[in-house]
Amino acid sequence: MRTQVAIIGGGPAGLLLSQLLHVAGIDSVVLERQSRDYVEARIRAGVLEQVTVDLLEQAGAGARMRRDGLPHGGFALASDGETFRIDMQGLTGKSVMVYGQTELTKDLNDLLAQRDQPVFEARDVALHDVATDSPYVTYIKDGQTVRLDCDFVAGCDGYHGPSRKSIPADAGQVFERVYPFGWLGILADVPPCDHELIYSNHERGFALASMRSATRSRYYVQVALDEKLEDWPDERVWDELAIRLGPSVAPHITRGPSIEKSIAPLRSFVFEPMRHGRLFLAGDAAHIVPPTGAKGLNLAASDVHYLFDAITTFYRSGSQAGLEGYSASALARVWKAERFSWWFTSLMHRFPDTDAFGRKMQIAELDYLRHSKAGAAAVAENYVGLPF
Ligand code: APR
Ligand code: PHB
Repeated sequence: MRTQVAIIGGGPAGLLLSQLLHVAGIDSVVLERQSRDYVEARIRAGVLEQVTVDLLEQAGAGARMRRDGLPHGGFALASDGETFRIDMQGLTGKSVMVYGQTELTKDLNDLLAQRDQPVFEARDVALHDVATDSPYVTYIKDGQTVRLDCDFVAGCDGYHGPSRKSIPADAGQVFERVYPFGWLGILADVPPCDHELIYSNHERGFALASMRSATRSRYYVQVALDEKLEDWPDERVWDELAIRLGPSVAPHITRGPSIEKSIAPLRSFVFEPMRHGRLFLAGDAAHIVPPTGAKGLNLAASDVHYLFDAITTFYRSGSQAGLEGYSASALARVWKAERFSWWFTSLMHRFPDTDAFGRKMQIAELDYLRHSKAGAAAVAENYVGLPF
């Protein structure tokens, strides 16, 4: 088989790239290890920057998001239970869209299904000769080994996929920070406690009130890395949320049975460069952010923006400049989102080594953001997403 772009991984990055290329008349094959049901059942993030919304529209995948998504012009920060609002719309003129990654994945998969994509349950995907001008990918589908020749390979296979691992160790560098805590997330079919998100710094640890719709809520509490899900029955999660979100929010929390509950560790990770020969990494394959700034999915979309531009320029004009500049362009934006996510994580969480002074620093900084328009504007500008 032959295609122009072999895309490994059918998460948001791979699906969005394939759909944009299709609209531009460029052929691709998406290879996804899991089944469609499995991919669409994974609960992930839910906040889209305006540039991500625009990219989905450009891909022709924006209709349901426009109808069902919730535009948010601000969010709240809480410091020991006292909340104040970051007015994103007022400070930047921009807003974000609350729309689950699960829904976005469904929308893109519906479009790709019209041309029999992705290839689901593609096993043992392996990359070959990516440092040459004739790369190819092999995989096993229904017991048969398939060879897929291509011009380019897009590694959109997440943190654990084979793409990044196929780059020789001496051709790249890893930058990493692992945080000493995780987030326990709970999804429930109950109305949200507020019409906007609330990020809370509490002495017992961080908490976040988020949502997927007017009838579905998503909440998180910071937990220690050795905590077990069995130790967190729903009632304990709701009790802890009520404490950490504070007395002004607690009465508005509607409790209900969880329909999903999981613990995820927090990590900052960047692999440089994002290109090796004809292999281009995009999304979680190249970088991870802690979820505090809601940047993971948006960075995947931003990489896809740069990569799509580079590939279409190459096919239209033969110019390699965009391809050669891809890694540097994508990384410039990645590092700024890494910085924001790291900073926001540091500001909002309780670290095992936070002493009394460290705690005072957090409280003082939150108080500064509350009363300084310049401080709040910097938060808002990063949260709505920096320009490409
Ligand atoms: N072969 C084929 N596909 C693979 C392989 C493999 N060996 N390994 C992983 N994959 C697939 C995964 O099953 C997954 O569907 O690659 C996909 C990667 O998708 P994501 O992990 O969702 O990564 P990405 O598309 O970069 O999306 C960005 O933003 O919200 C954050 O981390 C969150 O998933 C989100 C990410
Ligand atoms: C979510 O709704 O899952 C969510 C929202 C905001 C974040 C992280 C996760 O910062």
